Amino acid sequence: MLTSLSSVLAKAQRGRYAVGAFNFNNLETLQAIMGAAEAEHSPVILQTSEGALAYAGMEELAALVHLAAKKSKRPVIFHLDHGKDYALVVEAVKSGLYTSVMFDGSALPFKENVRRTKKIVEMAHQRGMSVEAEIGLIAGKEDFVSVSERDAAMTQPAQAAEFARLTQCDALAVAIGTRHGAFKMKKESSLDFHRLKLIAEATRVPLVLHGASGVPSHIKRLCTQSGCEISSAKGIPDAQIKKAVSLGICKVNIDTDLRIAFDAGIRTFLKQRPDVIDPREILKPARDLMAMVARSKMRLFGCSKKG
Ligand code: G3H
Ligand code: 13P
Ligand code: ZN
Repeated sequence: MLTSLSSVLAKAQRGRYAVGAFNFNNLETLQAIMGAAEAEHSPVILQTSEGALAYAGMEELAALVHLAAKKSKRPVIFHLDHGKDYALVVEAVKSGLYTSVMFDGSALPFKENVRRTKKIVEMAHQRGMSVEAEIGLIAGKEDFVSVSERDAAMTQPAQAAEFARLTQCDALAVAIGTRHGAFKMKKESSLDFHRLKLIAEATRVPLVLHGASGVPSHIKRLCTQSGCEISSAKGIPDAQIKKAVSLGICKVNIDTDLRIAFDAGIRTFLKQRPDVIDPREILKPARDLMAMVARSKMRLFGCSKKG
């Protein structure tokens, strides 16, 4: 059933676990995520980026989620991920299709981020919807040039607390050294756990970790063996994700790990079976691999058997 982000995150915060938030753009990925949630008895957050909406349409993706949630006994949240376009976030709120939205004003000056986030929160709360906001810049698409720039862009604990107080947002995405995409870390490096601890001490708002994919080695191997060039890809080690959850992260965003599982499934199958032309046969191994990855994330985050 569809439920609210704030209630699921409040429960996660009390239980000291995190709920997985998975990006999807198509039916097979949605089926894989929902299959994982059922198998793991886990609550689940299904999220669509602005890019997903441009690819498949808001109403179309919402219809898939609403049907899946109706058939499921698990708590399901339908969330807009990284809404940077203010008008699109307003449209998503007014549509009534989502249970929560993220307004991502992280690239704006602090005051303007507060002003716009506050407006979205007021509008969403009137309709019973929750809002995730962001303070600090999570790298990936807007890469940083130097280490000092990276540090300067990380979330400042006192500013995070002030932001949460002023906006009354329901969840807060923080920058502690993660990065979107498959190429996160050049060598063994650590997330800024000290910063995370200070942020969690400064505010009670549930915290969100973006750019949290791990690039599992067996998936990466399948990809590279079948011709996908991601040999220098590196994600966040599982132990660091676990530690971040123990320090107060309540929602963990995963997109890349499902993308590479999809890729690995398709490439491996097509290499072995060049005779097959039926898309259902081609997509099934990809769907199975994505479900396996989603299940392992739910166990890692501690949300298995919680829904
Ligand atoms: O954080 C961003 C997500 O990975 C979505 O990526 O904008 O390519 O859909 P996308
Ligand atoms: P990854 O690219 O690490 O999967 O992060 C996804 C994300 O943060 C979506 O908002
Ligand atoms: Zn993100």
